Amino acid sequence: MVAETVLNVENLIWPIFIGAGKGDPTPVDSMPGVLRVGLDRLPAYVEPAVKLGIPAIALFPATPASLKDSEGSEALNPNNLICSAARVLKREFPNVGLIGDVALDPYTDHGHDGLLRGDYVANDESVAVLSRQAINQANAGIDIIAPSDMMDGRVGAIRRALDEERLIHTLIMSYAAKYASSFYGPFREALGSGAALRGNKRTYQMNPANSDEALREVAMDIEEGADLVIVKPGMPYLDIVRRVHEEFRIPTFAYQVSGEYAMLTNAVQAGLIDRERGILETLLCFRRAGASGILTYFAVEAARLLRA
Ligand code: PBG
Repeated sequence: MVAETVLNVENLIWPIFIGAGKGDPTPVDSMPGVLRVGLDRLPAYVEPAVKLGIPAIALFPATPASLKDSEGSEALNPNNLICSAARVLKREFPNVGLIGDVALDPYTDHGHDGLLRGDYVANDESVAVLSRQAINQANAGIDIIAPSDMMDGRVGAIRRALDEERLIHTLIMSYAAKYASSFYGPFREALGSGAALRGNKRTYQMNPANSDEALREVAMDIEEGADLVIVKPGMPYLDIVRRVHEEFRIPTFAYQVSGEYAMLTNAVQAGLIDRERGILETLLCFRRAGASGILTYFAVEAARLLRA
């Protein structure tokens, strides 16, 4: 009766890793409890989440190394893992929202989100490819395009490209405030983009010291046509979630990233934190900070707890 905020299943978005293999989903070593699933088992894997009422799923591909190259060409393949997964999921579960991550890192052999020219990621050339990647995903049935690459001007370019293709129902959920963070380690491990990563992403991701800059990034993305925005990572950046929510009143999502997941699960394994209470507390705190929803690897577990 006196709670100011509530956490509901409707607030949860589930990020999943799609692998090229067949058969039983395989464990992601860096994230205990997280699995990589092939296309054949995808419907069975996702069904419990849909039944629990999770409204949207974010898809990430574990692209085989043999398909990676310096230009990330596989991102434009209409039959790549994301597009194939989108078609399977749309057929089986037409009402679940599908979020497609737009960035080249799952497809490049150097692990960067854009195209490398010399030692740097070339912004404009990257934006052109990212726009084509977005179209490729939208044509396969992705409902929400989520550019996580942090190139300048990509939201506007993607919006124009979608309009030109008459993909007028596709939403853009921009990773507007994405920090150059140590908390992405286990995710890069899961995708195989970590070991390969040459250098770091600090020329295009944000400095953790900055908060006003986050507001400028969000303002630009909204101006360019973003419908929803993401702050990432989550827990160490709750102040940013709060500021973005207050300043713009646009649906603001927080991404509880792989390193946050690993921190909590490892603390649970060490017997230091109660798992169920820990999960629900972190998620509730995102809501308190102003998040409309949370992308979390705990989504299914949390949904079960909330429904119990
Ligand atoms: C990159 C991308 C990353 C994550 C989502 N999209 C990693 C990165 O920027 O290196 C991280 C998610 C997580 O850590 O859970 N396009």
